[in-house]
Amino acid sequence: MLNDLAAFKALQTHRAECENLSVHDLLVQNPQRLQTYSLEIEGLSVDFSKHLITDQTFRLLMDLAKACNIEDWRNRMFAGEKINHTENRAVLHTALRAPASRPVMVDGEDVMPFIYQTLEQMKSFSEKIRSGAWKGYTGKSIKTVINIGIGGSDLGPRMVCEALWPYCSRDIEVKFVANIDPADISQALQDCNPETTLFIIASKTFTTQETMENAQTAKRWLLAHLKDERAIARHFVALSTNTQAVAAFGIDPAHMFPFRDWVGGRFSLWSSIGLSICIAAGFSRFRALLDGAHAMDNHFCSAPLSANLPVILAMLGVWYRNFWEAQTYAVLPYSQNLALFPAWLQQLDMESNGKGMDREGRQVSYNTGPVVFGSSGTNGQHAFYQLLHQGTTLVPCDFIAALESHYSIGEQHKILLANMKAQSQALIQGRALKEADGNPHRVFPGNRPSTTILLPKLDPFHLGRLLALYEHKIFVQGIIWNINSFDQFGVELGKELAIKILASEE
Ligand code: F6P
Repeated sequence: MLNDLAAFKALQTHRAECENLSVHDLLVQNPQRLQTYSLEIEGLSVDFSKHLITDQTFRLLMDLAKACNIEDWRNRMFAGEKINHTENRAVLHTALRAPASRPVMVDGEDVMPFIYQTLEQMKSFSEKIRSGAWKGYTGKSIKTVINIGIGGSDLGPRMVCEALWPYCSRDIEVKFVANIDPADISQALQDCNPETTLFIIASKTFTTQETMENAQTAKRWLLAHLKDERAIARHFVALSTNTQAVAAFGIDPAHMFPFRDWVGGRFSLWSSIGLSICIAAGFSRFRALLDGAHAMDNHFCSAPLSANLPVILAMLGVWYRNFWEAQTYAVLPYSQNLALFPAWLQQLDMESNGKGMDREGRQVSYNTGPVVFGSSGTNGQHAFYQLLHQGTTLVPCDFIAALESHYSIGEQHKILLANMKAQSQALIQGRALKEADGNPHRVFPGNRPSTTILLPKLDPFHLGRLLALYEHKIFVQGIIWNINSFDQFGVELGKELAIKILASEE
């Protein structure tokens, strides 16, 4: 097990030596610290100088990464090996953003032609919707698109559409319905014109209860107004792996945008699940998003472990989770357009690494994935940051911001960035009793770690890199913890019980 490894034990011993470490002192004493503990890769800069680490910690964390064969596992994932062993599946969201020229084999088939054929289908369809060439059943162009899906079939495209809002068409409104609460679909349909509304039914399995129920409601709503089954072909498309279920629902498989079982739900925004992004922001923006993610894939595959961003972020997370007993981790994007990023990351991280069995089916004897939470800055400052600064729990934080705003209105962007810098500084430097005028309530313990990630601009390319950075970080942690990050059996029991409860109430 992980905690039997010499590299793990060396970190345990070293942790005891870090008890009185003051990172603020280290920052003051060593002007080189920021340079040593930051990386800039083509404009994406990551500052990890405000962490509870010394050179020795960093070395030992990298030793642990090596001992867990990160590079070998990474290569196996990219090569299409079935590393999702509990479901006997490959894990190939990376192939979705790779160039067509390099074959990726799954079960003897090169999957790249299929990927590019689907991209072509997405391009052609989204362009028709955006130009108005695609007509609804009564001959009118589409004005509203409603994506019905949940989990990865909702959070990814919803977050990206929000993040790329400045790039999105103002002529077509793209809405998202996920919840089985009738309020969600009812409110989405409230002001829609059935003649100009397109429904995207997004579901990998096409069996998910919430999505299927909401899709049936949408179908009834459309037919109640247009009164002809033939209207479905002009107003419904499906994004799925399950052709049979799509046909059974009444959607012509010609209007289905396929993907394969080697795309996990929480990694699916790069697949046809991204159709709403293509419609909202345009296909070229979607392509730039894929290219950004591919650039991060290349970095992850080629950089040495000690200069590899996903590996560094992952190992810092392991440091706090396994050696400082940190239960939680906060993600704090200083960007209104990234307001949904924490919710997306929550699924990505908690559904991937919220596991207690190792790959061999043994109960682990060490901590795995943390509780992930967060919200956009500065809103969070006026809500939960109190606990980050003075609470009794250590909460490592990630601050994320774009250096350039899309908007030059007023002084807001300058103030936004100043606030972010101030928060990471306050967390690490704290305030001693003397500086707090002897008032213990105004004391800040400090020594609270954070990473700062800066993008040049929140554009499709840099957003793609950011998302892939987190995907690979979570992958690396899953390997360290020897768990399968790609199944999600923990969601099943509740689903089964809900069906039984429903049946017993009928
Ligand atoms: O219940 C969890 C889950 O399976 C997620 O992993 C997935 O993203 C979501 O449900 C939706 O699944 P589907 O795309 O098959 O409707």
